[in-house]
Amino acid sequence: MKNLILLLSASLFLIFSSCKKNSSNVVPVCDGSTPTYDTNVEIFISGRCLSCHGTGSSNGDMSSYAKLSAYTSNGKFEKEVLTNQSMPTSGPLPESELNMLKCWMENGFPEN
Ligand code: HEC
Repeated sequence: MKNLILLLSASLFLIFSSCKKNSSNVVPVCDGSTPTYDTNVEIFISGRCLSCHGTGSSNGDMSSYAKLSAYTSNGKFEKEVLTNQSMPTSGPLPESELNMLKCWMENGFPEN
């Protein structure tokens, strides 16, 4: 019985510690600025995303405002970039960029 309790505690510990990655993500906060696709986001996307999400990419083409809009409107941009922070694949974005994208989202992803 004692062993069973030990085993259960160990498994619970493993389960909770494996969730740690998500809970330690930065929570993006909009600082009140009003970024637009044309002035802020396009250059961010071309530097951070187009190497994998360029024209015709099977991972998702994000090479223009219209193409990217498919992912901002179906919620996948928010999920991958702001919530799970699983994109870009190379690792977490700087907090300033996450905050800029958060503002862009809160303002309804404006083009200009
Ligand atoms: C090194 C390559 C690489 C980079 C850089 C990259 N992605 Fe991705 N991305 C992928 C791949 C591969 C997939 C599809 C497989 C997957 O879901 O993991 C994907 C999937 C996605 C999806 C989900 C698409 C769908 O239809 O489900 C979104 C949204 C996304 N990426 C956004 C971004 C954004 C925004 C950036 C830049 C901040 C970015 N990615 C940078 C490789 C990359």
